[in-house]
Amino acid sequence: MLKLLPWAVLLCGAVGTSVAQASHEAFSRNGKCVSQDRTYTTSKAVLRGDDTGLQTPLGALEESANQDVPSPHLEIQPLIISGPFINRVDLVFFSDGYTVDEKDKFIEDAMRLADDISGNQTFNTVKPLMNFWAAFSPSEESGVGKDGKPNKTPFGLYRDGTELRAVYYAYPEVAAAACESMGQQCDYPILLGNDPLYGGLGGKFTVITSSILNGPQILRHELGHSIIPVGEEYDGGFAYFGVNAYHDLSEPVPWAHWLSASSSEHDLDSEKQTPKVERSIMPMQTYPWTLLNTSTSWSTRFVSSGTFSRHLVRFSLSGLPSKTDLKVELDDVDLSWKPKVGLGVDRWHYDVHLDRGLEGGEHELRFTLLNKEREGIAQLCSAEILEFGDENEFNSTPGHYGVFPTFSDTNETSYRPTNEDCLMRIVTTPNFCKVCLEGLWHALLSRVNLIDGVSESCHQDHGSTKVLNASLVPLAQLRADADAATTLAALDESYTITWTKDGKVLEEGTNKTTVEVPSGKWKVGDKVVLDVKFSTKEVKVDKEGHLEDQLEYVLVESC
Ligand SMILES: *[C@@H]1O[C@H](CO)[C@@H](O)[C@H](O)[C@H]1NC(C)=O
Ligand SMILES: *[C@@H]1O[C@H](CO)[C@@H](O)[C@H](O)[C@H]1NC(C)=O
Ligand SMILES: *[C@@H]1O[C@H](CO)[C@@H](O)[C@H](O)[C@H]1NC(C)=O
Ligand SMILES: *[C@@H]1O[C@H](CO)[C@@H](O)[C@H](O)[C@H]1NC(C)=O
Ligand SMILES: *[C@@H]1O[C@H](CO)[C@@H](O)[C@H](O)[C@H]1NC(C)=O
Ligand SMILES: [Zn+2]
Repeated sequence: MLKLLPWAVLLCGAVGTSVAQASHEAFSRNGKCVSQDRTYTTSKAVLRGDDTGLQTPLGALEESANQDVPSPHLEIQPLIISGPFINRVDLVFFSDGYTVDEKDKFIEDAMRLADDISGNQTFNTVKPLMNFWAAFSPSEESGVGKDGKPNKTPFGLYRDGTELRAVYYAYPEVAAAACESMGQQCDYPILLGNDPLYGGLGGKFTVITSSILNGPQILRHELGHSIIPVGEEYDGGFAYFGVNAYHDLSEPVPWAHWLSASSSEHDLDSEKQTPKVERSIMPMQTYPWTLLNTSTSWSTRFVSSGTFSRHLVRFSLSGLPSKTDLKVELDDVDLSWKPKVGLGVDRWHYDVHLDRGLEGGEHELRFTLLNKEREGIAQLCSAEILEFGDENEFNSTPGHYGVFPTFSDTNETSYRPTNEDCLMRIVTTPNFCKVCLEGLWHALLSRVNLIDGVSESCHQDHGSTKVLNASLVPLAQLRADADAATTLAALDESYTITWTKDGKVLEEGTNKTTVEVPSGKWKVGDKVVLDVKFSTKEVKVDKEGHLEDQLEYVLVESC
């Protein structure tokens, strides 16, 4: 049942509808059950690169959309709620592969994911702009389908074969109906599959699994694509766009205001008048997504120019829980690979940094499966070699903002802001870089009004004094969570609040959420204007004024 939260009775002058109305509307449109016996059409994304898949084929949803498909019955529970859904960005977890008996597990899985990405990292500072909900519909069968066949579940999640990679949905029209039935309470639908291992898909519906290690990683990365929105920062992708992407060095650096002092304009390449680019090259990258066997090693060759002073071997694997399962060698030298502790057969990413240059000429990278029992499950997902100049040529210090080359699947170069500070590059990292984070604030604040609403009352003690009370999004001094003080101090957040009547500032109300209009100075129908401006260290530039809002409030009651 949708709980009526305390603010549900608040009239949201800023947005014009009451939450009570909106929630009633959202709720009354739910409640029908969907047949599980329909035939399904598989809509597959073309998978490239490392993402489990950013793209749903364009039009896939429209093609298969059946207007008459009802939403499955949804039992909606609040997970983390910061305010009225009509004025928040709402993320909703939908259950797939959870039976009636697994409802509690679904709520726990969804809560764990919501906590992980907003508790102390990733979306933590913007949490007051977001709500997280869980919408449960029972499945007849537990788990996600395999070998291209969905189980009897509402959205029909399944893997192709058994490989740990993409998880597709068979019934996008049902997912669309479920989200639509919630109206403004559903901005970003997340289909959560009841499966402990790696897998997912980006696009209109973010698909993830309940994998403890990989679920949160895929979720926050895909949400970066869909909410900010930005493309990749890792190599080997094909979509590089948004605030974190820079393509033409003759243009100004898009994140000039975030550049570290040593990379700022003083450091322009003096002849070309272009910014200093950190020196690195990618001589080899591949996404084999291949099962390994003990009879033949998997290997690849590449050529180094021999002109760099450091290199990195980066790869990802799944189905390899023990260090005696696999040998990874570069030019016959064992790189002493060890699996992440506690990983089991799930997927993980590994980096081997080598603080010396590769010699000019041909090299070989080789993966040898040692344990025959792992055949059929041991998988090499991706492998890459990167070469770097020395620290003067390539600043690898965490927190350094500059111009770093990124190499696409066709080896086209674009540029990103940091070496490895962003989860759009390193999925195992929990945070966005500052450039993406600023983009996130803008994206969220373009959809959320800083003013939830204004209410009026009368103060009888002083004759008929009118009191106006503004509800603001709980940022700055209004933050209420446990570490509010720390966040506030670290981000130097503030709200500047101004109340104006008849062009005159009501001084007593400055920087306060309530203001008194003295008796005799007002009548029903008078207008009071509220201006609110928010500032935070995480946003340096606000060209479109997303951090400012205004509400004109008309007095409706006499005292
Ligand atoms: C956030 O909490 C998780 C789980 O408690 C922990 O693993 C992680 O290191 C924390 N992250 C930060 C940035 O403190
Ligand atoms: C990418 O291009 C650079 C030259 O711009 C070259 O040195 C490098 O080997 C290429 N990498 C691949 C994987 O083709
Ligand atoms: C074993 O792995 C090698 C390298 O990936 C591959 O070429 C070969 O086809 C595989 N053999 C079998 C029987 O799968
Ligand atoms: C203003 O409204 C909020 C709820 O939005 C309430 O918690 C607070 O007590 C009110 N303040 C006054 C002075 O009425
Ligand atoms: C209101 O708050 C803003 C932000 O903290 C501050 O700059 C301003 O001086 C304050 N105004 C008054 C009158 O205190
Ligand atoms: Zn970034």
